[in-house]
Amino acid sequence: MIQLRIPLLLINFKNYPEVLGDGSVKLSKIAESVAKNLNVEIIIAPPIPSLALITKSVSIPVFAQHVDSDKMGSTTGAIVPEVIKSIGCAGSLINHSEKRIPTLKIQEIVNRFKKLEMYSMVCARTPDEVALFASYAPDFIAIEPPELIGSGIAVSKARPEVITESIKAVMKVNKNVRVICGAGIVNKDDVDAALRLGSLGVLVASGIVKSPNWEEKIKELAEPLTRYKI
Ligand code: G3P
Repeated sequence: MIQLRIPLLLINFKNYPEVLGDGSVKLSKIAESVAKNLNVEIIIAPPIPSLALITKSVSIPVFAQHVDSDKMGSTTGAIVPEVIKSIGCAGSLINHSEKRIPTLKIQEIVNRFKKLEMYSMVCARTPDEVALFASYAPDFIAIEPPELIGSGIAVSKARPEVITESIKAVMKVNKNVRVICGAGIVNKDDVDAALRLGSLGVLVASGIVKSPNWEEKIKELAEPLTRYKI
């Protein structure tokens, strides 16, 4: 299992038109080159149909944006953990706000990922959810207030208490779970504010994917990570 360094930047490509076809490869290669030049951890989460192509194209960690709890075998259409592992994915977002799954299935997937030696990053909407999901012992919990996703208003500035309360919640339940945050992060001050609050990384989607200059924007958002190496 590769070791992920913290703090980290996860770029969620979602299914934005900018990353159709070759767009995903192009963005992944730029992320890889910035990660290497700055010597920071950048994880990419491209659209599911591009995963195998991307894991073959770059050497930085690749996560799926979603995974199902269905078994291997006769499960047509399901995104099965063993399958994404077999094509080189290091882990997956689980229960993203835009792709929620039942709570029991979250626990099931986290357990299955442990056996598969894959990284689980469970998304939560509130500190109460953070406390519940921390009891499943995922590797990471990503706190993202849904109303700020895609808004350009950063969680780290508009709702700093959501981050600090999430960290407190995790400390009470399971200190080994790492808290990162996302929603509305668009510039380096937003990243800096998140790291100062104790977040061990950030998730960014529209701030990068919609930027007219991917390289400059990834550099800008990754630079604060170099000052918070743990
Ligand atoms: O997974 C991260 C994502 O939900 C944040 O979206 O566009 O606010 O950076 P965005």
